[in-house]
Amino acid sequence: MDTTIRDGQQSLWATRMTIGDIQPILPKMDRVGYWAIEAWGGATFDTCLRFLDENPWERLRSIKALTPNTPLSMLSRGQNLVGYKHYSKEIVDRFIAAAHRNGIDVFRVFDALNDIRNVVDNAEAIKAVGAHFEGAISYTISPVHTLDGYLEYAQQLKDLGADSIAIKDMAGMLTPYRTERLVKALNAEIGLPVHVHCHYVGGMAPMNIVKAAEAGAAIADTAHAPLAFGNSHPAVETIVAALQESRYDTGYDLDLLFEIAEYWEEVRQRAHYKRGVSSLTHMQVFSHQVPGGMMSNLVSQLKIQNAEDRLPEVMKEIPRVRAEVGYPPLVTPMSQIVGTQAVMNVLTGKRWGLISKEMKDYICGYYGKAPGRIDADVAAKAIGNAEVLPPDVAPGSLVTTTFDEVAQEIGDLAVDEEDVLMYALFPNEARTYLSKHRTGEKVEFLLAEESSEIMEEDYVDINQIRELIRTVKEEGIGEVVVEEAGNRIAIRSAAAVAPVVAAAPVAAAPVAAAPAPAAASEAAPAANDRPSNWIAVKAPMVGTFYEAPAPGEAPFVKVGDQVSAGQTLCIVEAMKLMNEIEAEEMGTVREICLKDASPVEFGTVMFYIEPTASN
Ligand code: CO
Repeated sequence: MDTTIRDGQQSLWATRMTIGDIQPILPKMDRVGYWAIEAWGGATFDTCLRFLDENPWERLRSIKALTPNTPLSMLSRGQNLVGYKHYSKEIVDRFIAAAHRNGIDVFRVFDALNDIRNVVDNAEAIKAVGAHFEGAISYTISPVHTLDGYLEYAQQLKDLGADSIAIKDMAGMLTPYRTERLVKALNAEIGLPVHVHCHYVGGMAPMNIVKAAEAGAAIADTAHAPLAFGNSHPAVETIVAALQESRYDTGYDLDLLFEIAEYWEEVRQRAHYKRGVSSLTHMQVFSHQVPGGMMSNLVSQLKIQNAEDRLPEVMKEIPRVRAEVGYPPLVTPMSQIVGTQAVMNVLTGKRWGLISKEMKDYICGYYGKAPGRIDADVAAKAIGNAEVLPPDVAPGSLVTTTFDEVAQEIGDLAVDEEDVLMYALFPNEARTYLSKHRTGEKVEFLLAEESSEIMEEDYVDINQIRELIRTVKEEGIGEVVVEEAGNRIAIRSAAAVAPVVAAAPVAAAPVAAAPAPAAASEAAPAANDRPSNWIAVKAPMVGTFYEAPAPGEAPFVKVGDQVSAGQTLCIVEAMKLMNEIEAEEMGTVREICLKDASPVEFGTVMFYIEPTASN
């Protein structure tokens, strides 16, 4: 299976490959004879909306139109589909059916914890539409992961109707002999076609594929050379050549493969994308076990926190955190949750002093069953007496959002089921995308029009007005004039069109230094004469300050509130996780120094608290 346009680019190009990069070469890739082309899912759905301004469904349809002879495959994160949280059974059903009708034939489904309960809804939906269900084992090495455990999980996948079993080795932990043992055992005990997915990372993958072939595996994942190696997969050109003149010969045309590789090399150089290389740090995966994709995330997180030099400490902290929380495989979303906890442990200088909501949810069982035992001290610190999900309740069953509820919320902006599903998975990104594109032509016209003259083309349908106004605002146009003429409405930008650079929302600036913060202006004294016993609560990291658990909800605290030690004061969102900041001791909130949703730096003062004198 070729992974160039999904895992290859996700591993090396931060998933920034555009549909324009992909389309020209697809007719040639369609001629290779691949078992399947992995074209969709994983992070591609998210990045299409977030960074590429592309409709992910449209991308899928256009890829399928150019690959009529090759099945297309996608990666699903089980109950999380292509997102980062659980979705309801109805959303899973509809998403799988929509993916199938838009061009997906093979669904590879994994769960980060190998908890079969998170795979059931996917499996049922895939079987219902008659597509290929490939159950994937998230492969890792730990004292609690055994060959028998993997076989047991593979049997559970088979019981759900799996058509093939994938060994998903995201970190490059497989060795040739581990591969041989696992593939042989799967063949003997399970009897379904075995598909090996091993990231190159430290360079083992080509050897693993040869051993896998000898042991009876049916399918292996590769990428074209310009998107192979490093954190990606072995090069197809290498593997095809390696297997020639053997009983495992793929029969693929090497010249055709190199023609395709040349195309990708041009794209790579034109766009200045990185090559896949294995650094020494990557090779050390054999000891630290941190997947390559996770490592690049860590580096960028540390960069934002201005602490790149702490990487070696973080790398030491990750295995420690992972062991304390029962050895979850380091794959999305567990890689983020464990990695960020390690970063926080190192940066705050206090292990488990600050714990993300996501880590607490994991410890409570909301992501699924932890593979091993969770350290009792860590559990006590993280969740105290909070209730743990009973083992007989599937985490996904707690989400009951219906399609109709979601459809109602997005309203007229969605014109079909695909739009609604896009919104169900990524509400903010989908709303922005749909607002922009539902009214696309007219907005483009407004943006291009420098004068304030009313033009014929400005006329829009009356029920588009609301969306249009929202969109022009997002595009940075300062003012919109709406004029009625009969039953039609003309819109023009009153002021000159604002430059696009001004379109970025201006975040509220921290007002910590201001003498009279708005939220506390009456009660608070000027900055320079705060009583000396007031305690400043500072941001432990770079991020965004939120005063309430969710938008529209009541703030955690108000000025004048009594707080007890350990009570939540606010959330600082950092590294994509929500971190509750707690009061260190009992006291009275005297000042709230920031507006909701303000950016914070390390050490930004967020609150002043007057401690209650203890006796
Ligand atoms: Co992968």
